[in-house]
Amino acid sequence: MRPNRRQTGSKWRASAELSSRATMLLALAASALLASAAPGSASQPDPLRLCADPTNLPFSSDNPSQPGFYLEIGQALSEQIGRPVAYDWYKSYFGKRTVRVTLLGKQCDAMIGLPLSADFMGPAVIFSKKIMTEAYALVSRTTLTLNGIDDLRGKRVAVQYQTTPQNLLATRDDIEKVTVLTPEEGMAALEQGKADVAFVWGPVAGWLNKTAYEGRFRVQPVEGAGLSWDAAIGFARTSTQLRDQVDAALPQLERRIAELAAKYGLPNAPPIRLGAASSPIRLAALGSPAPFVRQPAAAPPAIRIAETRPRDAGPEAVALGKEIFNGTCAHCHGPDAVQSERRIDLRRLQTRYGEDMRDKYWTTVHEGRPSKGMPAWKEVFTDDQFESIYTFLLTVQSSETAN
Ligand code: HEC
Repeated sequence: MRPNRRQTGSKWRASAELSSRATMLLALAASALLASAAPGSASQPDPLRLCADPTNLPFSSDNPSQPGFYLEIGQALSEQIGRPVAYDWYKSYFGKRTVRVTLLGKQCDAMIGLPLSADFMGPAVIFSKKIMTEAYALVSRTTLTLNGIDDLRGKRVAVQYQTTPQNLLATRDDIEKVTVLTPEEGMAALEQGKADVAFVWGPVAGWLNKTAYEGRFRVQPVEGAGLSWDAAIGFARTSTQLRDQVDAALPQLERRIAELAAKYGLPNAPPIRLGAASSPIRLAALGSPAPFVRQPAAAPPAIRIAETRPRDAGPEAVALGKEIFNGTCAHCHGPDAVQSERRIDLRRLQTRYGEDMRDKYWTTVHEGRPSKGMPAWKEVFTDDQFESIYTFLLTVQSSETAN
């Protein structure tokens, strides 16, 4: 799991020659209103600042020779609207927390590739029109024809742990599942003959197929609840003017976007329609727009793992709890619950609540505190799973009251 709260610092690569930070602030103060009304002005328009993850290919990268799909869209867009482009690098999956810090923290003007849904941080975040649909995909040798889920019968299917596809296949005894953690692992299983099909996050599969497997595999996107998402460009609520400008520019970029999708190997075959997963993804409950990260391991909110385990507080429960925690909760509460922000430091539960700890825990994980950014998880996990997360949390309680 990648650390998600590490900020690598921002590097500005404005193509505009900004003599100083002060000049830029002035330029910003002059703002968009004036910018468009000042033809012939000698000064450069202020840069379009994009927040981007430096290590998220095929979507974004700080390697100028391979900037990624989203960043190249950003470049085309900035040309179209006549502003230079600048980047604010933030090493993170694009969860709400990142959006809050970067976009809503005014470190950038736009973030490309957010899930197009008012449920995703609306009304604080507003969106452009859709730029593309992203989906899980069925990856196989080209000799295999797949038109639906029944074609997977009797096949060994590499499926990503804690994703909607895993959930979808969970009910099918006639399909042999090979659990993998990443699309990379899924593709490797295919290559090594350990699986016949890999059911993994499509954009990454397409990218790997192109860059690592010489296009040997067929990557067919799927559609269905929780399996595909529309991606758009997100802005802060106050940026309606920029949003409208971007919306006006997007139709001119359609061809370019299609070329870029091909350049980065993103799947473009017609999608295979699959039945709805038994617990469709609810973006409202998502702590993160899971699929918009390179490793959609952050998708677990979509999953209700059918399997239930006997309650026990042994090492197995701790390990299971820790695994779920790191897959889902760690995005906000820190890997292994190590978190320096006190308010969300779950190692302090015991100190904070004493004997009410257990009650507080259950109420909070079931109902969430939606107004404070803590999602409700009761539709997502079973009580046994909550129990094992609790068991894990017990092992990390810190007695340092001063902390
Ligand atoms: C999207 C971010 C996010 C995710 C994901 C998340 N939480 Fe939280 N959680 C929060 C925030 C923010 C708070 C603090 C709310 C507040 O200020 O009252 C919180 C509070 C809590 C609390 C109460 C803490 C206290 O001291 O009162 C518990 C317990 C908790 N979360 C458990 C979990 C568990 C278990 C998971 C995973 C199943 C999880 N959280 C996933 C954001 C998140």
